[in-house]
Amino acid sequence: MREFLTICLGRAGHEVEAVGGGAEAMARISAERFDLVITDLTMPQVGGMDVLRHVMRQEAPPPVLMITAFATAETAIEALKLGAYDYLNKPFKVEEIQVVVGRALERSRLAHENRRLRDELRGVGTLDHMVGRSLAMQRVFELVRKVAPTRTNVLIRGESGTGKELVARALHNLSDRSTRPFVAVNCGAIPENLMESELFGHVKGSFTGATSGREGVFTAASGGTLFLDEIGELSLAMQVKLLRVLQERRVRPVGGDREVEVDVRVVAATNRDLEAAIAAGEFRNDLYFRLDVVQVVLPPLRHRAEDIPLLVERFFERITREFGRPLRGIGPDAMDWFLGHDYPGNVRELENLVERAVALETGDILTAQHLPAQRGRSRAAENAEFADGKVDLDQAVADLERRLIGEALRRTGGVRKEAARLLHISFRSLRYRLQKLGIEVGRGDDEA
Ligand SMILES: Nc1ncnc2c1ncn2[C@@H]1O[C@H](COP(=O)(O)OP(=O)(O)OP(=O)(O)O)[C@@H](O)[C@H]1O
Ligand SMILES: [Mg+2]
Repeated sequence: MREFLTICLGRAGHEVEAVGGGAEAMARISAERFDLVITDLTMPQVGGMDVLRHVMRQEAPPPVLMITAFATAETAIEALKLGAYDYLNKPFKVEEIQVVVGRALERSRLAHENRRLRDELRGVGTLDHMVGRSLAMQRVFELVRKVAPTRTNVLIRGESGTGKELVARALHNLSDRSTRPFVAVNCGAIPENLMESELFGHVKGSFTGATSGREGVFTAASGGTLFLDEIGELSLAMQVKLLRVLQERRVRPVGGDREVEVDVRVVAATNRDLEAAIAAGEFRNDLYFRLDVVQVVLPPLRHRAEDIPLLVERFFERITREFGRPLRGIGPDAMDWFLGHDYPGNVRELENLVERAVALETGDILTAQHLPAQRGRSRAAENAEFADGKVDLDQAVADLERRLIGEALRRTGGVRKEAARLLHISFRSLRYRLQKLGIEVGRGDDEA
């Protein structure tokens, strides 16, 4: 069946890639973009429904066409409910599948084009799997696009959950190394005594327990990108060894007597203050300079409030699709809640909050009902409460100001002139307040 489809769709002018099973399909779908997925429903091990669910978890998923010989009304409906494009019973005619495939591709092309236009109109920037409207993020995207095709080492910095790993993947995906492996290592999660073998590999018998040889991540990432996450956690001894490898581009496996040449691009990330670590003698200056050829700094989410509505919408879309929850939209109280929150855990926290609210929502639009009670800054602003008999007036006023400005920007799609009008203040005054509160807005094309 697979060969038959490959041949007949190939003849119709489509570029077809066939894989041997559900697991392989899922791996390919995570790594690359496809315009259409055709899968059998009943397959050994990983079935068609699993493939379908996997596709639906992707950002902007391609249409999925299910094929089966054991069609029951129930599975068909379940697949369609989960977002399958259509369903074909075996046996089918060549013309039949060609018509359905043609239609699915056309629909996916239109959906894509629609989204692109909508994004463009709203000033939404994208980078691989990332989105952002704030000036700060647009700058990050621009920088990443510029350095991605080079093999320069890049150091990514930012608080937890700001998207460091996404940037690392974007650097890989947008380079000519993208067909080679992307290998990520969490330097903070590997015990000190195993780190050297993890990075450089070891030969059989090189230490107790080394019953066979093992490849290190440097060789596993050969030709591709090695992502050293939480680089700040690396011990001083390992820092010396890593620096040598970066300088000489050769690794020696533990217990080995020969060095092998490696061609990898190294991208490192940290949420630690490396300068302070250097001052404290915990991080080597020379390694820092070697890694930090280009630095990408991800701003915390609380400094780019105008990204919040966009991210909420994107996650809402993906999560409702993934859960198969047909919610009609996001209620204003929920959006207010999201705008008023501080996000110490940044984008990851926002994503988790959307997921939780969607999962617990019983109505047909998303409300703030299941979002945690907002304490601290924003709550204080709303009620201006005298907690413990005191209130921090400046803080409360600043919070209220931030909230209302955020809301005005949301309502006007980030256009500051219109937001100023809603707030009954001048454009200059709004600009001043945005600066004071550290809120960055859009692309500044409404400046004139
Ligand atoms: N700009 C963005 N657009 C879309 N999704 C984002 C964006 N930034 C972060 N995310 C999402 O937020 C989550 C956290 O991102 P990521 O894992 O890259 O953060 P991190 O900086 O590596 O965090 P940590 O320091 O905790 O490892 C992921 O689910 C990611 O998909
Ligand atoms: Mg990370």
